[in-house]
Amino acid sequence: MNRAFNFSAGPGILPEPVLREAQEALWNFHGTGLGLLEISHRSKAFEAVIASARERLARLLGVAGTHDVLLLQGGASTQFFQVPANLLRGQRATYLDTGRWASLAAAEAKRYGTVDVPFTSKGTGYDRVPEQGSWGQLPEGTAYLHYTSNNTVAGTEYDYIPDVDVPLVVDASSNILSRPMDMARHALIYAGAQKNLGPAGVTILVIRKDLYAAFDQNLPTMLRYEVQAQNDSMYNTPPTFAIFVVERVCAWIEEQGGLDVIASRNKAKADLLYHALDNSSLFRGKVQVGSRSRMNVTFTTGSDDRDAAFVKAANSAGLSELKGHKSVGGLRASIYNAQSLKAVQALVAFLADFEAKHA
Ligand SMILES: Cc1ncc(COP(=O)(O)O)c(C=O)c1O
Repeated sequence: MNRAFNFSAGPGILPEPVLREAQEALWNFHGTGLGLLEISHRSKAFEAVIASARERLARLLGVAGTHDVLLLQGGASTQFFQVPANLLRGQRATYLDTGRWASLAAAEAKRYGTVDVPFTSKGTGYDRVPEQGSWGQLPEGTAYLHYTSNNTVAGTEYDYIPDVDVPLVVDASSNILSRPMDMARHALIYAGAQKNLGPAGVTILVIRKDLYAAFDQNLPTMLRYEVQAQNDSMYNTPPTFAIFVVERVCAWIEEQGGLDVIASRNKAKADLLYHALDNSSLFRGKVQVGSRSRMNVTFTTGSDDRDAAFVKAANSAGLSELKGHKSVGGLRASIYNAQSLKAVQALVAFLADFEAKHA
């Protein structure tokens, strides 16, 4: 059976060679005669996989030496409280509110201290991210600033790293490793793997090594980053299959030529799609031009019924998962690293075809 063009926001599309390798590994992992799902995480074969995953992630993120890379469970949503449980501890932190996930992160942080929100685009439907520095002076005693580098639901993305003189924390779930960025400027980076890096079930957590000293030693063991770091992310049984796929996706990124190559492909795909939307008399993009995401392109015909008709027709034409997030409606095409230019070209052709029939 032919596979459809998959525009899912997450879990999202993965590189075909990685899926083929995963298929083989399930049956016979690296010639061991045992399936990947059926071997111990303490086996030599799996230990090599997790070590390589951490090494490749550190290299691609440019944080080798300065930061630890942990592979955790619980999704990015667990980091919404694990981060403040470790870093906030009754102090104050600044959160930039650029959408659903950013505001959920801020809500969890309120359990652990004071949360200042100097920027929100909620009033305009989360149609933009702030300009560099527009959040102003941070209050005295701010423990960290938290931002969401790509807003999966709204379809906005920062094209810069916030410049602040407090530790910087980022939820990079939906644009991690999509372009070269000076990620070492962050004190802490977290990302659910299931958009750009692998399947659901593993969360990437990158933490600057000098931060541990300030943390509460009395947190439950599983919430202590230091414990996972000391145990090479194997304090308990890690999600072995998800880690295997992340390792292979990182290898794939390196084989493609690294983040420069990935970024130029991502830009080409996004430019093509936004150009089509900008020149359409039926469809329009939903966010401000300067804040457009290269990962999640949100758009609409302006009518719920017509949007629904579009999703249905696209589906029949082999273009899947184009419905917007349930909280905002509309349409959304996710074009993560593994998305092909061919798929985006097919979508652009389909937009024109639908417009010709419905305008
Ligand atoms: C930017 C962002 N943060 C957090 C989450 C929540 O991630 P998880 O389902 O891994 O908890 C998502 C999920 O879509 C997301 O896009």
